[in-house]
Amino acid sequence: MLEMTKDTAAAGETKVSLKNLQLSFPDQSGGVKQIYQGLDLEIEKGSFTVLLGPSGCGKSTLLNIMDGLLQPNSADEILIDGEDLRDRPDLSRQMAYVFQGPRLLKWKTLAENAEFGLRGLGVQPRDRWPELMERYFAAVGLSEYMHHYPSQVSGGMQQRAAIVRAWVNEPQILLMDEPFSHLDEITAAEMRRILVDLWRAEEVHRTVVFVTHDISEAAQLATDIVMLTPAPSSICFRRKVDLPWPRHIESDEVMDLEKELRKAFAERAGVRF
Ligand SMILES: Nc1ncnc2c1ncn2[C@@H]1O[C@H](COP(=O)(O)OP(=O)(O)OP(=O)(O)O)[C@@H](O)[C@H]1O
Ligand SMILES: [Mg+2]
Repeated sequence: MLEMTKDTAAAGETKVSLKNLQLSFPDQSGGVKQIYQGLDLEIEKGSFTVLLGPSGCGKSTLLNIMDGLLQPNSADEILIDGEDLRDRPDLSRQMAYVFQGPRLLKWKTLAENAEFGLRGLGVQPRDRWPELMERYFAAVGLSEYMHHYPSQVSGGMQQRAAIVRAWVNEPQILLMDEPFSHLDEITAAEMRRILVDLWRAEEVHRTVVFVTHDISEAAQLATDIVMLTPAPSSICFRRKVDLPWPRHIESDEVMDLEKELRKAFAERAGVRF
């Protein structure tokens, strides 16, 4: 594993700022479904921000807007480091995306898949590729499997390779959309530990925006929790979390936080878990 460094205090700078987001989609009955009606969201630089919300509230859509994959109907701001993504589409090259499933190319080895990520984003000089691959495959415990094909490794190992494919770019912002939700709980717990170790190992933390509807996962990972209501979604609860790592799922602090989040969901979003 990578050597741990001391956690740096969050800088307090804004990394991502969305202001007055408006978005609707046509629905099946010929009407429109409002997803956001003036949503504002700020994400702090170096935070591990967890977006928590019920299915269909627009979590994945928010990541897609941040990555420039989707344009809202309108927005006053979609700022990355103070610059608007709509004027500077190249800013999306600072970001990498991890999806729910690994989405590896099955005819390429894990290493070739990661290399595909490096080539795709094009931010790392080619002479650094071998060092980066070695470093991050080692960090997730996959050094011995770099040259295996996806079909030759487990689902959890494939998802680790998908994290490497994103992390080798050393993105300033890592967008993660329920990356562990299809894994069994033991594998998911291991993956969370690996992810937090990777994130903490760097003196200046990357900004992670992690989507989940799993309250326990949010309590285990977040430095910042943002809770969304059902669509048209608004932020109904937000809080910082300064519990130390590693966080044990059954520790009093984590269980208390879960309880608080469950209560907030019920009272403010009308959603029971
Ligand atoms: N391209 C699209 N066309 C039409 N409707 C869409 C499109 N993309 C998303 N939606 C709708 O927007 C809403 C929000 O979708 P989104 O995928 O962001 O939800 P989510 O919070 O990620 O849900 P889940 O937890 O189930 O993944 C949903 O009602 C979805 O059906
Ligand atoms: Mg989603």
